[in-house]
Amino acid sequence: MKAPCHIAIIMDGNGRWAKARALPRAMGHRQGMEALKRTLRAVRERGVEYLTVYAFSAENWDRPEEEISDLMELLRIYIRAELAELHRDGVRLRFIGDLARLPADVRKMINEAAELTAQNTSGTLVVALSYGARQEIIRAARRLAEQGAAMNEENFAAALDTAGIPDPDLLIRTSGEMRLSNFLLWQTAYTEFVFTDTLWPDFGAKDLDAALAEFQQRERRYGKRGTMAQ
Ligand code: IPE
Ligand code: IPE
Ligand code: MG
Repeated sequence: MKAPCHIAIIMDGNGRWAKARALPRAMGHRQGMEALKRTLRAVRERGVEYLTVYAFSAENWDRPEEEISDLMELLRIYIRAELAELHRDGVRLRFIGDLARLPADVRKMINEAAELTAQNTSGTLVVALSYGARQEIIRAARRLAEQGAAMNEENFAAALDTAGIPDPDLLIRTSGEMRLSNFLLWQTAYTEFVFTDTLWPDFGAKDLDAALAEFQQRERRYGKRGTMAQ
């Protein structure tokens, strides 16, 4: 059984998880962070090289200020608490999105985390922050135009925030929603999608294995004739 090389996850359902327990939304996000730690561990144990997680979308800036500041605080907490161990484990950290919109101290922290771990070779965690795929595509097009570079798939992919990262093989979205919400529009052209009703704070190894089992059943045809064809 071959593991996918790259899994992308839309970590959704923190608010509903909290609401179901009559807890503040921030508690849902806090438990979501625990789910991320668990899931990263499980993903690495299964030999998956890249994990990309959608942590904060470009459109999430439209949420109430209080929720945004709770999320930014969690990000600081995550990096402070996890960076040393991630680095020790050889994990490379990358951040994609319109990072200029993040608070200056968060920007500094993530730049330092990316720099510290840049040479690590035991897997890559890509965190999408202030990320919107349409905005990323526009930024890439602008970059190419400024460089006067040829407009082809290879140059375009290299101008995206995800330059050098292989396209996701498997995309998982939790919480029963079946949409991309402006995540990795270019990169998911041939990605297999798995949707689960599990809310993100409840996600763990069991859900990951279920998604992997579903992925193994899929026949990826890339437009060619499949092995099932007559
Ligand atoms: C996902 O959980 C986390 C972020 C979008 C930051 P939500 O906060 O969207 O939770 P629901 O969808 O309201 O349950
Ligand atoms: C997508 O979830 C963004 C993240 C998980 C970070 P949302 O909860 O923001 O998406 P919509 O609004 O339901 O499409
Ligand atoms: Mg949501």
